[in-house]
Amino acid sequence: MPTVLVERKGAVAVLTLNRPDKLNALNEELLTALEQALADLDRDAGVRAAILTGAGEKAFAAGADIAAMRGMSAATAMAFADLGHRVGRRLEIAHFPVIGAVNGFALGGGCELALACDFLYASEKAKLGQPEVNLGVIPGFGGTQRLARRVGIARAREMCMTGDMIGAEEALRIGLVNAVVPPAELLAKAHAAAEKIASKGPLAIAQCKRVLLRGEGVPLSVANELEIQGFSGLFGSADQREGMAAFLEKRAASFKGE
Ligand code: COA
Repeated sequence: MPTVLVERKGAVAVLTLNRPDKLNALNEELLTALEQALADLDRDAGVRAAILTGAGEKAFAAGADIAAMRGMSAATAMAFADLGHRVGRRLEIAHFPVIGAVNGFALGGGCELALACDFLYASEKAKLGQPEVNLGVIPGFGGTQRLARRVGIARAREMCMTGDMIGAEEALRIGLVNAVVPPAELLAKAHAAAEKIASKGPLAIAQCKRVLLRGEGVPLSVANELEIQGFSGLFGSADQREGMAAFLEKRAASFKGE
């Protein structure tokens, strides 16, 4: 069985972490498959949005694979963390937004993968956390940094230092997830948002994603300059002409990504 399932529904790709008997724990095979799948989808201009979720009813991903990590040397652990970071980066630099559908446990590396998605929806059953300190280590796939940027340094410290899991409602309250829905409605919720994004101008969506990402953590003056470049760079594209003409002609726009 492949460790990552890739499905296409029109312009929307669905990536499913697929080791349900191990709560989708992230081992080298799965992470390599995910990195490859994201690279393949990124080469396909027809992909306009993606959803990342976990197989089974219990987990998005319950973390990096502890059995695989147990005997690692510092050098092997560094290569493993590099792989996790490459996957996070792939999620961030893809030309299409990735919506994380957190269907259950998103712990450790699972929470970190979720954090590299553009935004998250969670099922009422979801539990998120960075429990690495319970194992004598710290987050290694971006958790200390992306969590702090998403929810603020104090909450990130609390989660990373106590190792406590938080429930979906708490995750919503602190801005870690954007919405909480019953488990049976999670994928439909993610699909609805993905379809909506897919109906917009692809160049604008890619630029929006890039400017929001690259602007994080740089001085506001630099970030605003990125926005000006991104905004003005879209003028003259067929999609900009079409989008504005369609509005003025009171009809739906038909975007081509050109
Ligand atoms: N790495 C490797 N295997 C894992 C795993 C992980 N991160 N998380 C779960 N599994 C495996 C379990 O070992 C078990 O395998 P087995 O059936 O061969 O014994 C299987 O997945 C089911 O997990 P189990 O612990 O029996 O389920 P549970 O419902 O009792 O508990 C959790 C669920 C998520 C609370 C528990 O699995 C857990 O604490 N996992 C580790 C979380 C963690 O520390 N993640 C950070 C890693 S850096």
